[in-house]
Amino acid sequence: MTGNYTLRALNPFMPGVGLQPPELAGRMKEIELMDGMVARTKLARLDRGLILYGLRGIGKTVLLLHMKGIADRQHMATFKIEATKNAERAYDELFRGLPLAIARIGKPDLRQRLMNAFSSVESISFEFLGVKALAERSAASYVTESYKLQLLIERMCEELKKDNLGLYLFIDELQEMASEPLGDLITMQHEMGQENLPFYIIGAGLPDLPGVLAKSRSYAERLFEYRHIGRLSQEDTEDGFQKPAKANGRPFDDASLEKLVNLSKGYPYFIQAYGAAAWNESDSNPIHADAVTRGIPEALHMLDEGLYISRWQRSTPAGRAYLRFMAEYDEGPISTSLIASSFQKPGTASTARAALMELGLIYSPEHGKVAFSIPGMGEFIRRVEPAEDQTYDERR
Ligand SMILES: Nc1ncnc2c1ncn2[C@@H]1O[C@H](COP(=O)(O)OP(=O)(O)O)[C@@H](O)[C@H]1O
Ligand SMILES: [Mg+2]
Repeated sequence: MTGNYTLRALNPFMPGVGLQPPELAGRMKEIELMDGMVARTKLARLDRGLILYGLRGIGKTVLLLHMKGIADRQHMATFKIEATKNAERAYDELFRGLPLAIARIGKPDLRQRLMNAFSSVESISFEFLGVKALAERSAASYVTESYKLQLLIERMCEELKKDNLGLYLFIDELQEMASEPLGDLITMQHEMGQENLPFYIIGAGLPDLPGVLAKSRSYAERLFEYRHIGRLSQEDTEDGFQKPAKANGRPFDDASLEKLVNLSKGYPYFIQAYGAAAWNESDSNPIHADAVTRGIPEALHMLDEGLYISRWQRSTPAGRAYLRFMAEYDEGPISTSLIASSFQKPGTASTARAALMELGLIYSPEHGKVAFSIPGMGEFIRRVEPAEDQTYDERR
């Protein structure tokens, strides 16, 4: 028994938002891309920024963090923030991130030069420059912030460039960013590039992120390398299960591995859930297929709790009706007019759609169509049939 408890405690799998997986399977191309960017920075060569986009639970956040680790190890100035719909908070976080990035710089003389650059900008009176007056007249009252941010980033990059280093700004959930700071960031990526300065935005977000950026600034398309982060190949999925299992002394046998690959469909969040459950259910070494089968309810429970239920609860009754209709059509893109025709008042459907998009539950893969942002959401709705008019918790 004791042995079993120890083995259970060794379970390497664990689903969770942004949790570093025991094995970051696949993603070699994206990692090489980051290695390349950093190598070029060290040779004083310029690059474009980088945008990672894909469904929820596909592994964008952990990839973003892994990339930050690469830049950190090569002594680049880095910081990471999560985008927010509140413009003021977004600017605050950007201003707080910059001194943090400076503080983490190892070379004392460079750190000092960066600090000097920082305080020289801080001490400039923007009122004197007439910016304040401009700000008061302008509808967007973020002119001062935007000037300051740009000047700060420019001065910092000038210093970093002297040492063949660069400033890497990692932004998660970038599709959520308030429009003023988002526009500023894209403009900065553009202008720093024109000035030959090493400033890079590495953004991650939902599948419609490229469209959100293009809408903010028409030239955004040219400024970034865009990478779709998708499901893992069969081989990478196998690695995602087998490498951590082997490393922890209890591999999967062939039949259990095949079953896990099929259940997970190459979705990283699913790999962690089904891997964790099978490990817990197994009383043999290697792990057999029957443990995978016994683990299915626990895995589904982890997926429901981690991915679906809270999002279902956050949507309105009309939103839930919208989602339920979508679920009847499985996971693929579905025509918005078809959904609207199932509503008595078409206006209700479009309001519900807008709210669901705002919540990041659905996105528009092409004009006139919508799809779930979370893999398996349709299957969840069909399987659990959560109530539309009350919270799911109350019904359980
Ligand atoms: N390449 C991968 N291999 C195995 N597991 C992964 C991989 N990428 C992510 N995961 C796991 O999947 C889950 C979701 O990852 P996360 O980065 O939060 O996704 P996203 O940001 O796209 O929603 C986490 O539990 C994480 O450990
Ligand atoms: Mg994420």
